[in-house]
Amino acid sequence: MEQIRFGRTEAKVSAVSLGTWSHGGPNLAGTRSVGWSGGDPAAERASLLAAYEAGITHWDTADVYGDGRSEALIGEVLRELPRDAVFLATKTGWDPGPYEHAYHPRQVASQLEGSLRRLGVEQIDLYYLHHCDFGPGARHLDGALEVLARAREAGKFRHLGLSDWDARKIVEHLPRVDPDVVQPYGNVVTDGYRQSGLAALVAERDLGVAFFSPLRHGLLLGKYDAPRRFDAGDYRANDPWFADADVLARLRDHRDAVAALVDGPEPVLRGLVGALLTESPSACVLLGQRNPAQVAAAAAAAAPLEPQLARRIWELYADLRS
Ligand SMILES: NC(=O)c1ccc[n+]([C@@H]2O[C@H](COP(=O)([O-])OP(=O)(O)OC[C@H]3O[C@@H](n4cnc5c(N)ncnc54)[C@H](OP(=O)(O)O)[C@@H]3O)[C@@H](O)[C@H]2O)c1
Repeated sequence: MEQIRFGRTEAKVSAVSLGTWSHGGPNLAGTRSVGWSGGDPAAERASLLAAYEAGITHWDTADVYGDGRSEALIGEVLRELPRDAVFLATKTGWDPGPYEHAYHPRQVASQLEGSLRRLGVEQIDLYYLHHCDFGPGARHLDGALEVLARAREAGKFRHLGLSDWDARKIVEHLPRVDPDVVQPYGNVVTDGYRQSGLAALVAERDLGVAFFSPLRHGLLLGKYDAPRRFDAGDYRANDPWFADADVLARLRDHRDAVAALVDGPEPVLRGLVGALLTESPSACVLLGQRNPAQVAAAAAAAAPLEPQLARRIWELYADLRS
């Protein structure tokens, strides 16, 4: 598996890394669907071991994925592996617990302890603030950062990360948070990473980058022949593209065009992932892999792309980009 230097963390992580949001299963936050349906617990467990075997050894999870189920599954599997076999990343920021805001200092401290317990480790490699909504005037940010600074000094995590769906918010809060790694939404149908100025800041500060949702939750593979509905609890029910026959048809056309351009096994996956990896040398992608077959495809697709070919793939998707 190709590895990248993860910016100033100096860690080497797999260029294709493992996203485990779906491993938490279906989930609701109030009435909003925030999880994934259709999973098979045995296949999800097997996917973690297959990822380890394939050298996909940077695993990304969060306290709220299945309200801790994703972390607990990782913890179970990690007991069978040497601790340093996996670069382990998790996040906090969505569950307010008994407090008015999820970034209340006591809630941040408590969520961190919960993650350490579920993961069964003494130290997390990378701990993220999951989003950049720090309350009016960002009033919850300083308190959260103070707690995190103390926890880091105590050895509970090594590197600090900052994430958001909107790269502009990462740019806004980056100077104050001073993260080692950023986790932006990133795939060939969004150009937020460059447009927001985040790409330039990453280069200037030598940050690691972990692009999330590189397939836009599977859509970019062009594998849907007809609109698809998802049950309550599945995040994909919120994404209008799954219900749009015209967009799905265009995605199938683009899939065929990518397959015609890229050689080797898993050409579409390789094209989509490879195009993203050319964005920054310190970038990896967090690819959701729900079973060993998807891990095998991800491992086969991890070969780098020529920059010229990557540019052609970005051009292909210009009509769908916002
Ligand atoms: N920081 C944040 O706010 C944030 C937000 C979202 C995600 N993330 C991270 O990013 C990770 C990945 O993002 P994502 O889960 O949204 O989706 P993604 O990586 O864009 O898509 C993954 C989905 O595509 C399908 N898939 C993957 N490989 C496939 C293959 N070879 N053949 C067919 N289908 C395949 C699978 O779903 P099906 O089999 O069900 O089609 C899989 O769950 C998450 O797990 C999480 O770690 C972070």
